[in-house]
Amino acid sequence: MAAKRGVSEASVKGRRVLVRVDFNVPQSPDGSVADDRRIVEALPTLKHLEAAGAKTVLLSHLGRPDGRRDPKFSLRPVVHRLSALLGQPVPLADDIVGIHAIEGVTRLANGGFLMLENLRFHPGEETNDPAFAAQLSRLGDLFVEEAFGAVHRAHASTVGVPKRLPSYAGFLVQKEIRALSPLVQGAEKPYVALLGGAKVSDKLPLLASFLGRVDTLLIGGALAFPFLAADGAHLGATKVEPDLGPVVQEFREAAAAAGTALRFPTDLVYEPAGGDVATSTGTDLPDGARAFDIGPATRAAFLSALAGSKTVFWNGPLGLAEDPRFSAGTREVLAGLSGIPGFHVSAGGDSARVAENLGVTGAFQFISTGGGAALEFVQGAELPGLAVLPDA
Ligand code: ADP
Ligand code: 3PG
Ligand code: MG
Repeated sequence: MAAKRGVSEASVKGRRVLVRVDFNVPQSPDGSVADDRRIVEALPTLKHLEAAGAKTVLLSHLGRPDGRRDPKFSLRPVVHRLSALLGQPVPLADDIVGIHAIEGVTRLANGGFLMLENLRFHPGEETNDPAFAAQLSRLGDLFVEEAFGAVHRAHASTVGVPKRLPSYAGFLVQKEIRALSPLVQGAEKPYVALLGGAKVSDKLPLLASFLGRVDTLLIGGALAFPFLAADGAHLGATKVEPDLGPVVQEFREAAAAAGTALRFPTDLVYEPAGGDVATSTGTDLPDGARAFDIGPATRAAFLSALAGSKTVFWNGPLGLAEDPRFSAGTREVLAGLSGIPGFHVSAGGDSARVAENLGVTGAFQFISTGGGAALEFVQGAELPGLAVLPDA
C-alpha cells in the first residue's frame, strides 16, 4: 500500500500531539507488564516528539473492559514501564476526556508526556461516538497514529480523531507498512507461506488469500488436521474441527487452479492414550492418540521447500508449542529458516510470543507488532485506521 505522511514532517514544537499507541500488552498475574515490545517499538516516535518539544498526549486501550471503568484494565502498570524506558515520569490522567485529562494537558511542558486512562473505559471509543471523538480531538492540535496493532479497528481514537485533526503516521506504523506491503504485492519469488495455529475456521480467509500469490503453502498445526482427515488419515482422538470436508476440498481445487502448491504433514508427534509422547510414521495414529505437532520427516520436507525461497511469511505455530513435548516442529523449522537467506516476516500475537520463547526470532527480518491488524493487512484488506491517514 501507499506510504503514509510521517511524523517527521509535522511541526510539533509547543503543540499538543495526540499519539495513539497500542500498549495492549500481555500482563503478569500481578498486573505488571510481561512483554514490553509494543512499548519499546513506539519509543523512536516518542523520543522524536520529546526532542522536538511537543506536548505529547498518549492514547491507548488495554484489554476489553467493554466501556466500563475496571481497575483490572488500568494503564497504571504500563505508564510505570513507559516512564522507566523514557527516562522521565509519565503521569496518568485518571480519566479520558474529563477534568483530570484537561488539566493534565494544560500542565504539559514542551517535551513532556501525559497518558490518558484506558480509552475502552469510555463507551464511545469502540462505537466511534462522534461526541467522544470530538472531545478527544479537542485535547490535541495534531494526531499521530502509532498503534499499528489497532488500525483494523474503526474506533473513535483510530478513525474519529484522525478525521478531525491533521494526522501523521508514527515511525512504527511506517515501518510496519514498509515491511508488510511486499507480502501483499511485489514479493520476490519464490514466495512461501508457512502457516499453522489452532483454529482452522479462523484462519481459512488468511489461507485463501495466499492462493495465487505464493508459490507454496506449508500447512502445519491444527490447521492441517481437517485436510489430513479429508484424505482419510486416521487421527485417533485428535480434535479436528468438524464439517470442514467440503471446504478443504474446495480449497484444494482453488489452489490447483491458482498454481499454488500445498504441503501438509506426512508424520505427526502425538500423545498416546494414557499420556507421554510418540511419533508416527505416516499420518495414521493409534486409537485414542491425539496429534499435537509435525514429525521429523515433515520438518525436513518443510525446510527443503523453504530452502530455495526469496520471501517467507510465517503465522501460527506448527504444533502446541507451549508444551515442550510438542514444540520441536516449530523450533526446528524456524531455527532452520534462520540459515536461509531472503526476506522473512512473521505476524500474529501467539506466533511472536512463541518465537521469542523458543529463541528463534533470528529467523525473521521483521516481526510485526500486530495480531489481527497484521493478518488483515497481509490479506490485502483495507484497514480503517490507515485509510484515514493522508498518503506521503
Ligand atoms: P497467532 O495468534 O499468531 O495468529 P494462532 O492464534 O493461530 O496464532 O495460534 C495459536 C496457537 O496455536 C498457539 O498457541 C500454538 O501453540 C497453537 N497450536 C498449534 N497446533 C496446535 C494444536 N494441534 N493444538 C493446539 N494448539 C496448537
Ligand atoms: C491486539 O492486541 O490485537 C490489538 O491491541 C487489538 O485488540 P482488540 O482485538 O481487543 O481490538
Ligand atoms: Mg492467536
